[in-house]
Amino acid sequence: MAASILPAPSISRFKSLLLGSFMPCLCKSSLTCLFVNRSFASLSLKPCPTVSGFSSSGDLVMLGIETSCDDTAAAVVRGDGQILSQVVSSQSDLLVKYGGVSPKMAEEAHALAIDQVVQQALDNANFTEENLSAVAVTIGPGLSLCLKVGVQKARRIAGKFRLPIVGVHHMEAHALVARLVNKKLQFPFLALLISGGHNLLILAHSLGHYVQLGTTIDDAIGEAYDKTARWLGLDMRKGGGPALEELALEGDPTSVKLSVPMRQHKDCNFSYAGLKTQVRMAIKARNLPTEEVPICSASSDDRRSRADLAASFQRVAVLHLEERCQRAMEWAFEIEPSIKYLVVSGGVASNRYVRARLNDVAGRNGLELVCPPPSLCTDNGVMIAWTGIEHYLVGRFDPPPPPNVPEDFQYDLRPRWPLGEEYSEGRSDARSVKRARAHPSLTSIIQGSLTQQ
Ligand code: KG4
Ligand code: ZN
Repeated sequence: MAASILPAPSISRFKSLLLGSFMPCLCKSSLTCLFVNRSFASLSLKPCPTVSGFSSSGDLVMLGIETSCDDTAAAVVRGDGQILSQVVSSQSDLLVKYGGVSPKMAEEAHALAIDQVVQQALDNANFTEENLSAVAVTIGPGLSLCLKVGVQKARRIAGKFRLPIVGVHHMEAHALVARLVNKKLQFPFLALLISGGHNLLILAHSLGHYVQLGTTIDDAIGEAYDKTARWLGLDMRKGGGPALEELALEGDPTSVKLSVPMRQHKDCNFSYAGLKTQVRMAIKARNLPTEEVPICSASSDDRRSRADLAASFQRVAVLHLEERCQRAMEWAFEIEPSIKYLVVSGGVASNRYVRARLNDVAGRNGLELVCPPPSLCTDNGVMIAWTGIEHYLVGRFDPPPPPNVPEDFQYDLRPRWPLGEEYSEGRSDARSVKRARAHPSLTSIIQGSLTQQ
């Protein structure tokens, strides 16, 4: 089957791709619909006043704000999927300096950037706050200190301009943005979400109803790319993942023997901590001067050794994805025989080798791969705005918050927030997956509220 891997288009190209109403308003004006009082926390049946006010979803205009990790992002998106603007301010300098995301530093960087990023998004879209229909903002999972900056900003705008507000799940947004880029993508579908903090295989039954087939028991693949890139002395300013992908092109992927994680566990979970250790040991065994000599100053032999290691790491890291995806497809066909698509999204999905390999796996199983363009795979405001639109159109949003927020206001932030319930037959027999102090999953909240009615 043909894959719909879209190239990285300019914003104007998107406009032409996305013209036309994609999402019909699911909220029939004669019906009552779900109205969320407190960012999905409690749901009550009320008429959905604002939704029925739109003659078509194209009239709806959503501002999306994302600050869950190290990118400050905002975008303005129409209800029909037209992207009016997209602005991302990344903290790559801090990443280079601190070797990872330092929550306090990241919070400060978000606080410095947020007003300008949102203003730029509004200006580029030729919009003022008054013209917006609603504001969507990531409320989890992510770093609390960082999430708070975005949520505060969203509430300030929503409070001042009396706009409804939609609290968005960051990983759901990575998955749903695929529906913005591919109009044919209907539920149910399988999704592999691969980022710096998460590795998820989910079966998306419908909007807000996800079954988690697999997750990582330790590190996510993006973290392994970033650490390996750092250990190989790569230039981290362009990001560890992209730098490693580039160097791997020069190397022999079969030259360094690394074992594929978790082959003895016949499930769909992931583990990258052991692979990181294998890389560390391989660097040591080869006496590569990676700590003293950055790649730009390496001798040609040294560079080749690093490239071999990069290519070998990438081959095995991605093979792990391929094997888990193969099994997840078999499980998914049992649960939902009608699935036709595999969505691959999240920062690591912008990697060309990853996309090509997963395209093969999907094709072998008769599925079509849907991979958003790289600018929509890495963290961005469009995916938040779009997910806000999807929920808004079925009436899931909060009313405008009061304009003045007391100093001690407790924001509804969900740093550890599963997307779906674990597939009971797929529980891992490996070391237990981290579950401490997690918020109830998005799916359980939404499904619980639906059955209550
Ligand atoms: O989704 P994302 O932007 O942020 C999180 O939610 O974590 O993903 C960031 C991760 C980082 O680990 C980054 O190195 C990785 O995605 N990444 C890549 C590539 N571009 C970004 N990994 C491999 N190859 C790439 N081209
Ligand atoms: Zn992300």
